[in-house]
Amino acid sequence: MIRPIIAANWKMNKTVSESLDFVSRLMQLVIGMNDRQVVIAPPFTALYAVGAALKGSSIGLAAQNLSENKDGAYTGEVSARMLADAGCTHVIIGHSERRTIFGESNDVIRAKISMALQSGMQPIVCIGETIEERESGRTFDVIAKQIKEGLNQIETSDIKHIIIAYEPVWAIGAGKTATPEQAGEVHGFIRKLMEERYGEEPARRLPVLYGGSVNPDNIGKLMAQPDINGALVGGAGLNVDTFGKIISF
Ligand code: PGA
Repeated sequence: MIRPIIAANWKMNKTVSESLDFVSRLMQLVIGMNDRQVVIAPPFTALYAVGAALKGSSIGLAAQNLSENKDGAYTGEVSARMLADAGCTHVIIGHSERRTIFGESNDVIRAKISMALQSGMQPIVCIGETIEERESGRTFDVIAKQIKEGLNQIETSDIKHIIIAYEPVWAIGAGKTATPEQAGEVHGFIRKLMEERYGEEPARRLPVLYGGSVNPDNIGKLMAQPDINGALVGGAGLNVDTFGKIISF
């Protein structure tokens, strides 16, 4: 049984004080919730302060991105070591907004995964198809390519640290979710691919989250699918009351 993971990706939202306000309320809500892992992904500027506020709490802290380089002359970039030092336990990698707006390729994503692992953070690796890819029947090919190219140098011993988030691009911020059956079908496919590459046991333990317009009304049905192990929440994770309803699905 995989412990469900519910993560909120705040994207480019919230100042330091807004982040701290959210977190102080969230810490009250998770008291006694030991059967699930809650993770929040504030913007870079709030990570250190939120990390300090979370000390001793079970809530995970994720960055939304990191550099594929170790250190050095990369103006504007933030390294894995800096994020771990600021208190991050997780890092979101390859979100569709990074892939489409910032042109991140599967090769870049692979390098970022490797950096995160070296610094002891758990990568939350996002994959998913566009509406054109789905409508032309290429969903499984796209997913297979993203997994093969993105994860192809990851050692079997490191797979236990990886979290995958299936986020159909057409469902992100769209108010339109994949049906639990559509999501369940792709999640089953992801697990099968991982089993072929890494063996049955690591694949069975791999958390595969769903993301794309998750809200308090649809979380229950999504989590009822056998291969869905949690959620990556965008818009509905910005309000602590709404997010509180999602984490207590
Ligand atoms: P959404 O975003 O919940 O607003 O659709 C999800 C995501 O981008 O991770």
